[in-house]
Amino acid sequence: MNEPNNNAKVAWVTGASQGIGAAVAWRLAADGWTVAASARSAEKLEALSDEAEGLPGSIIAFELDVTDPEASAQVFADIESRLGPVDLAILNAGTHQPIDGAEFAVEPVRKLVEVNLMGTVHCLAPVIDAFVAREAGRIVVVASLAGYRGLPTSSGYGASKAGLINMCEALRPELAARNVRMFCITPGFVKTPLTDKNPFPMPFLIDAETAAARIVRGVDGRGFEITFPRRFAYIMKCLRILPYALYFALIRRTVPRRD
Ligand SMILES: NC(=O)c1ccc[n+]([C@@H]2O[C@H](COP(=O)([O-])OP(=O)(O)OC[C@H]3O[C@@H](n4cnc5c(N)ncnc54)[C@H](OP(=O)(O)O)[C@@H]3O)[C@@H](O)[C@H]2O)c1
Repeated sequence: MNEPNNNAKVAWVTGASQGIGAAVAWRLAADGWTVAASARSAEKLEALSDEAEGLPGSIIAFELDVTDPEASAQVFADIESRLGPVDLAILNAGTHQPIDGAEFAVEPVRKLVEVNLMGTVHCLAPVIDAFVAREAGRIVVVASLAGYRGLPTSSGYGASKAGLINMCEALRPELAARNVRMFCITPGFVKTPLTDKNPFPMPFLIDAETAAARIVRGVDGRGFEITFPRRFAYIMKCLRILPYALYFALIRRTVPRRD
């Protein structure tokens, strides 16, 4: 069992059982942080915690399904009572499911919104409450470049991520006035178990360790958005400012063919 160092700074990473979250937890522990790692898969979290033994910091597992608001608040309270005040909250838990627009249905959209948007909100509320009271802390929300504009097959995922970007933009100046810093992460394609399911080629794909290094470096800076890989982010930023006629003329070529 990995034991916390009482002098280390404390981070909370949600969705830390695999992919970007696991890589961020690892990166932080390698830098000496005590990391509360949460997700639904307790076994994967325990394995990560065991593997991290020997690093300067530690990873401690906290099982959590972020779709449960009471459990999210309780886990945050448990982390603070066991490890001490959280300095850095990285709200990363999320999922993806492509939706064929011609077969649009309620349930897949509900799931994406409940995990990606409301799951983040369930963790954000107790974190903001504590950080504002202490007038300290950094909050990091993992959104996506897919939240910049509507993309084919992304009506549910993109909506959930666009909601997060907008929410972070709204909160950033309000929380800055209380000495709490808000960051928004907008990744392009990162190789993880989530994207391993994608049947299409993913441009500028990077690995989770590179993404984690960018995130951990970024939250030491004063910028709002941490986006990568850079070339893909530039393309998406250009698409974001195109007028609709031009945007739809370009993007309709990416609509999957229906046989
Ligand atoms: N990979 C990319 O290319 C990419 C690009 C842009 C944005 N993102 C975003 O980055 C984040 C991480 O993605 P990833 O690629 O690392 O995905 P991943 O490999 O599927 O990991 C997702 C993590 O979220 C956790 N999670 C999912 N549903 C949860 C729930 N209901 N409650 C608690 N934890 C839950 C999973 O753990 P359990 O299943 O154990 O709960 C897992 O640890 C997501 O928000 C994703 O949208 C990823």
